[in-house]
Amino acid sequence: MKALVTYFSQTGNTEEVARSIYDAITIEKEITPVQAGQNAKGYDIIFCGFPVHAHSVPVKVHSFIKDIPEGQNIAFFCTHGSLRGGQLPKQAIEQAVGLASKAKVLGDFGCRGKVSPQILEALSKRPEHRAWAEEAQSADGHPDAADLADAKEFASQMIGKSTDLKLAMDSEDD
Ligand SMILES: Cc1cc2nc3c(=O)[nH]c(=O)nc-3n(C[C@H](O)[C@H](O)[C@H](O)COP(=O)(O)O)c2cc1C
Repeated sequence: MKALVTYFSQTGNTEEVARSIYDAITIEKEITPVQAGQNAKGYDIIFCGFPVHAHSVPVKVHSFIKDIPEGQNIAFFCTHGSLRGGQLPKQAIEQAVGLASKAKVLGDFGCRGKVSPQILEALSKRPEHRAWAEEAQSADGHPDAADLADAKEFASQMIGKSTDLKLAMDSEDD
């Protein structure tokens, strides 16, 4: 079995989470930033990560998600400045699931990621960013050790799910 961890990260937060996920994977594995024309075939599971930008999936990741082959197992992860478990970052995950219409989404994970004070100050002046930018003021230090431990736990669960699916399919073929 083989896993791919692929991610987009502008300031390093999502990359840190991607590396923790990669470390927790116990099957054959690869890790790479999302690239144009990237091959998404031949993997039992793909972990795809991105930072939430304006409540959305960054455009840079759209075509990779849309081109994920039919039936491909995928798990999304994201980092965001707003509070964990809130409604705001959910919108981006829902969008990712919608873009991956042909894939089989096994789960998702999100945690907070710090935003530099300069970026926060610039963005919070724009009405479309106000809602999350206020919450993001307390995201300093994230992802922290607890976030990265949770990301590893998520990775183990997703690997478990994809292994179970493969075993079920193999037994159907027998
Ligand atoms: C242009 C821009 C838009 C952002 N929009 C949101 C947002 O809508 N909601 C949110 O919670 N965080 C938002 N953030 C914060 C990032 O999602 C967060 O800092 C993330 O951890 C950055 O990940 P990275 O270091 O991998 O690029 C935004 C950051 C930038 C730079």
